[in-house]
Amino acid sequence: MSLEVRNLNVTYYVGKASMNAVRDVSFSLERGDSLGVIGETGSGKTTLASAIMRILPPNANASGNILLNGEDILNMDIEKFRKTVRWKKISIIPQYSMNSFNPIKKVGEQLVKIILEHEPNTDVHSAVERVMKLFENLNLPPETFQKYPEELSGGQRQRAVIASALLLNPELVIADEPTTALDVINQARVISLIKTRIVDTGHTLIYITHDIAVVAGIAKKIATMYAGKIMEIGDSKKIFKEPLHPYTKGLLASVPDIRYGKVKKIYYIPGDPPDMTKPFRGCPFAPRCSLAKDICREEEPQVRLVNGRLVACHFADKEVIKNV
Ligand SMILES: Nc1ncnc2c1ncn2[C@@H]1O[C@H](COP(=O)(O)OP(=O)(O)O)[C@@H](O)[C@H]1O
Ligand SMILES: [Mg+2]
Repeated sequence: MSLEVRNLNVTYYVGKASMNAVRDVSFSLERGDSLGVIGETGSGKTTLASAIMRILPPNANASGNILLNGEDILNMDIEKFRKTVRWKKISIIPQYSMNSFNPIKKVGEQLVKIILEHEPNTDVHSAVERVMKLFENLNLPPETFQKYPEELSGGQRQRAVIASALLLNPELVIADEPTTALDVINQARVISLIKTRIVDTGHTLIYITHDIAVVAGIAKKIATMYAGKIMEIGDSKKIFKEPLHPYTKGLLASVPDIRYGKVKKIYYIPGDPPDMTKPFRGCPFAPRCSLAKDICREEEPQVRLVNGRLVACHFADKEVIKNV
């Protein structure tokens, strides 16, 4: 499996206004890679996921290339995409996944139907067996099969959604804030299941979250997103150790540090993300960046390679960043 996103742009049109929600995003992943995509609300994370899964709303337009194993799936005939790629090769655990089941049908029945629709040669008996096996792997009791979505707890329902994402054994799984609606215990469970059932089994994972701490144990690579752009992308250990972009630094500083039994004061990046319906000049992060210089307000920095990472900052390789 290889995924290569090249110069992806997504624009939303609302009345006369338009907004570039994803701007010139490029990255690539190999089989077994796990990428954590981190950014504040509104930075374009869900839009990026929807573009890859081709579930953008009708008022959106996407351009660029998304190559899956060398084949451009963004510009592929939509029927072909539906039959051969969606769910079979790429699946998603959506951001608001509590609604992803039909409320009037039993959970097991819905999952079996997905298998039969995509694999006409599979018989009902083995489809049921596969669903039961997945339930077992995800610590869901066998009774789950006969239940309506309403009858499951929040944590169980989220695990059933994970089951649906793994049903056809796709190469790439996208998880969009999969734990946001859960309590702390269920969050930890879901994260651990994503690690053992998706990452450790060799699937490729894109894990989207606004909370950088969540992906520390899962993601091999990290991308920070701001105003539709990737600000920094690279090896997660390196980024955790020494973030190069001031935005990445701010996100990391926003994580409470509970070592030594004390919670360190939590830092928030001051200010708000820019209004993307208005044109802006320079680096989108400049108005909130304590290091911004004149050039940052005038010229949008291009992504470039610094210390083995891609960073969009004029000063990423300058000593000044280290002393924030
Ligand atoms: N259907 C839509 N129509 C218009 N604008 C949208 C739509 N969906 C999202 N947006 C806008 O696109 C930007 C990126 O949104 P989104 O991808 O949901 O960000 P994130 O997932 O990082 O919170 C936001 O400013 C949001 O308001
Ligand atoms: Mg989102």
